[in-house]
Amino acid sequence: MCGIVGYVGEKQASDIIIKGLERLEYRGYDSAGIALMNGQMDIKKGEGKVQNLKDKLKADPIKGVIGIGHTRWATHGAPNDINSHPHVSESGKIALVHNGIIENYSSLKKELENKGRTFKSETDTEVVAQLIEEIYEQGNGTFEQAVQLALQQVVGTYGLAILNIEEPDQMIVARKGSPLLLGIGDGEMFVASDASPIVEHTKQVVYLDDGEMAIVNKDGYDVKTIEDEELTKEVHELAMSVEEIEKRGYPHFMLKEIFEQPRAISDCLRGRLNLEDDTIHLGGIADQIDKLVDADRLIIAACGTSWHAGLVAEYLFEHLAKLPVEVEYASEFRYREALIDEDDVMLVISQSGETADTLAALRTAQERGALSLGVCNVVGSTIARDTDAGVYTHAGPEIGVASTKAFTTQVSVLVMMAILLGQKRGTIDQEYAKKLIHELNEIPGKVEEILEHSDSIKDMAKLFSYAPNFLYLGRTYNFPAALEGALKLKEISYIHAEGYPAAEMKHGPIALIDEMMPVVVVAATDHTNDKMISNIEEVKAREGRIISITGEENEEVINLSEFSCPIPETEDCLSPLLTAIPLQLLSYYIAVNRGCNVDQPRNLAKSVTVE
Ligand code: G6P
Repeated sequence: MCGIVGYVGEKQASDIIIKGLERLEYRGYDSAGIALMNGQMDIKKGEGKVQNLKDKLKADPIKGVIGIGHTRWATHGAPNDINSHPHVSESGKIALVHNGIIENYSSLKKELENKGRTFKSETDTEVVAQLIEEIYEQGNGTFEQAVQLALQQVVGTYGLAILNIEEPDQMIVARKGSPLLLGIGDGEMFVASDASPIVEHTKQVVYLDDGEMAIVNKDGYDVKTIEDEELTKEVHELAMSVEEIEKRGYPHFMLKEIFEQPRAISDCLRGRLNLEDDTIHLGGIADQIDKLVDADRLIIAACGTSWHAGLVAEYLFEHLAKLPVEVEYASEFRYREALIDEDDVMLVISQSGETADTLAALRTAQERGALSLGVCNVVGSTIARDTDAGVYTHAGPEIGVASTKAFTTQVSVLVMMAILLGQKRGTIDQEYAKKLIHELNEIPGKVEEILEHSDSIKDMAKLFSYAPNFLYLGRTYNFPAALEGALKLKEISYIHAEGYPAAEMKHGPIALIDEMMPVVVVAATDHTNDKMISNIEEVKAREGRIISITGEENEEVINLSEFSCPIPETEDCLSPLLTAIPLQLLSYYIAVNRGCNVDQPRNLAKSVTVE
């Protein structure tokens, strides 16, 4: 959600922190701020994007070789100048930035007010700064100990970077439920909530785990628990490159990421499909595959687009591996009396690997003894590290808030898992497995073909950009694709859109259809084609406008449609990998026509690390 950057070294911290905040802006963008120490605590902050902060700094620069910065996605308190981070203690000596939510902030605030402290903001974060100062001023220990004691009183989640004017060379950072990593430079150290601000400076990183803190100065770091137990942490090498997190000539990250999909899917499949002996190798779950083979049930938990990928997986695993599957919204699963035990397998799907609800669902499953597997994009993310085993999607960094290549690579992984499991469980005919494996290998080329015709979708989008509502229909594998298409449109163009299983249209949405209603029909599943044709007729009979996404040989559907986006023919169970592409392009071009901020849609965050 929010983003944190910190620097301590010999260079001016301001430029490094601002550049880092720009890299993190996809995580939150309602306000931004920076604090630098230089004998005093200089703070600049305010509502709006990082550019506003940059303008303020240009007009009135501040200096310092140690500092912290933040880009915010509001949870407590409206996005305004006062509520933006950094927040300071009453004396102004302690400044901090925070990701997460302090759940007991109002009781802590009352206690602190009773002790005479006054608060400037409505945020939970200011309470942490004041609490640390309250403890520190009692004079019973070091600043580090005051931070530890304060964090022991705090209930909730945090990623924190803290400065104290009395410790001019050091920064303290701490993590519980909100990611933080340290970047190790030469005579300088970096801190950030994800790797994107760090990668251009160093590839050596240390991931903090929950309950850990680090005392960081330019020459290094000490990691310990907040209970003061010293720790030795492994240093990891970042695999991402700076080029991967830049736009490279595209007007938006989302468009770049849509067009990256042939490459992303190829990277995802590479080394995993063996076309000579028609097998699949997924090294990340190789040690656990027997448990998956013997499982009674697979439970999939995820949020947003990743949940849609999970729904595709339900069809895949039931069809190919004959394994019962339940797909859960992670946010619901965590608060249900979910019946899950050691005979079940929990599969969590998450692009970021940091989504709070997905992480909580994972922990619940682990507590009940289930094997936990993950499908994640971000290497080294919490979910990737905390699952028993998993498969990376290798999509590369996804910056656009609306997920695109993450979805198609998740589905690619899930197809491979389902085929592999089908082979191991003896539920898939080997000829069919061979056909799927070879067809999967063709998918990047077919995605490329669809992208070559993006201009026709761009032209069509002009005609529909001002429709107030959209309906998306699909069946079987393309029902989740319809949900995903509707979500993409909602997210970035703010048009109300609903995805439905096509047959359910008769149970409600059909009442909405008239000549104003574009209906996007995802008709790329052969064995339900006749049924889809009937649904198209039902829409047309009520003057709804049909946009179809269908196989290029499906003349019947093409002829019935006002507009059609033909896709290369493929196997039904692989079709969401292709139908996703025109759906993404349609929503992208509509949003651009409406003048929307595609990469940073209002109120949304790329990675939802709070409940
Ligand atoms: C947010 C993002 C979505 C994403 C969802 C789940 O809502 O805006 O694009 O699908 O979180 O995120 P995850 O990182 O767990 O896949």
